[in-house]
Amino acid sequence: MTLPPARRVAVTGALGKLGRFVVAELRAHGIAVVAIDRATAATAGGADAAATNDAERANADGDNAPARPTDASGAPFVVHHAELTDAAAADAALEGCDALIHLAAITDPVSRPASEMLANNVASTFNLLDAAARRGLARVVLASSQSVLGHPWAPRLLPLDYVPVDEDHPARPVDPYALSKQLCEAMAAYHAHARGLMVCSMRFPSVWLPEQFPWRPTVRLTELEQAAKSMWAYVDVRDAARACRLAMQRSWTGHALLNITARWAIGIKPVRALLAEWYPATTDIRAELGDDTAVFDWHRAERVLGFRARYRWLPDGIHDMGDDDVAVAAGHARPGVAS
Ligand SMILES: NC(=O)c1ccc[n+]([C@@H]2O[C@H](COP(=O)([O-])OP(=O)(O)OC[C@H]3O[C@@H](n4cnc5c(N)ncnc54)[C@H](O)[C@@H]3O)[C@@H](O)[C@H]2O)c1
Repeated sequence: MTLPPARRVAVTGALGKLGRFVVAELRAHGIAVVAIDRATAATAGGADAAATNDAERANADGDNAPARPTDASGAPFVVHHAELTDAAAADAALEGCDALIHLAAITDPVSRPASEMLANNVASTFNLLDAAARRGLARVVLASSQSVLGHPWAPRLLPLDYVPVDEDHPARPVDPYALSKQLCEAMAAYHAHARGLMVCSMRFPSVWLPEQFPWRPTVRLTELEQAAKSMWAYVDVRDAARACRLAMQRSWTGHALLNITARWAIGIKPVRALLAEWYPATTDIRAELGDDTAVFDWHRAERVLGFRARYRWLPDGIHDMGDDDVAVAAGHARPGVAS
């Protein structure tokens, strides 16, 4: 079944790094946004993925925050404050919305006690999925993470069964943040099959902001083990936001689990050489790999959402590789896409 595009979308974690871009992306495409966050203020930019939560820190400090939050385009927006671990507050946050993009989370395993992080991420996600099903929302997007596969917070390199790593690759979390995201994916699948919700869990690798150039790619070229744990993957925040917006315009069946990643890897050597060096036991190589082919496979997202990443980070700058999704962004599935 092809559903009409979403008209009014609840965006949780709207004050976060990705949230501000999602708010701007939806509004630029004429989709109304109900922005939700428990923070009362936000720093001007997003936090690094490995850092503590900037929005929450700003809230706790009660300073260094703009009087009116702005989205990534600089336009002000109103934030509805809600603590999403509270079931009633999560339910009320969806009032008047026909879709949900759930980004709110504690985004790492180190900045908070594991029990607090796990309880936050799991309870908020369950509350929202449950409310979305009860209220009959048409679409839900959950922000998941490449971490579910075990990387990149793992204390040591974990084996890959095969490459490119698609969504069917076994997920073996080894840190509590990754576990929280795996549990959220399981709750998404449950709400799809048991309660008829259309849910998309997006596995993002490290999300990069334009102002983090050239620091981010430099780290990939110098911190070699961490780069290998990350599978040399990244996604530009504008691409991550565009994937969220496309999900508000497309239809699929049940629970769609999608890798949302740049189509290119960043490493000091061609990808085949990097794999041979860092993952020598991985001999099951299922696709032709060019020098910087992404190891994290993105093709299912193209089939389901018509999404292909645009932003490619090269040593001389960030290159926009084009509007590949334009032809398929109007809400109509390509042949072969579940609808
Ligand atoms: N940033 C990355 O590199 C990255 C990579 C993979 C996945 N993700 C996922 O993408 C999503 C967005 O990440 P981000 O970098 O924008 O995060 P962020 O830390 O910048 O923002 C998260 C926001 O969620 C809010 N929040 C957290 N718990 C809440 C609760 N219980 N109720 C209400 N608000 C709450 C915080 O106040 C904050 O503003 C997260 O789910 C994260 O796990 C991010």
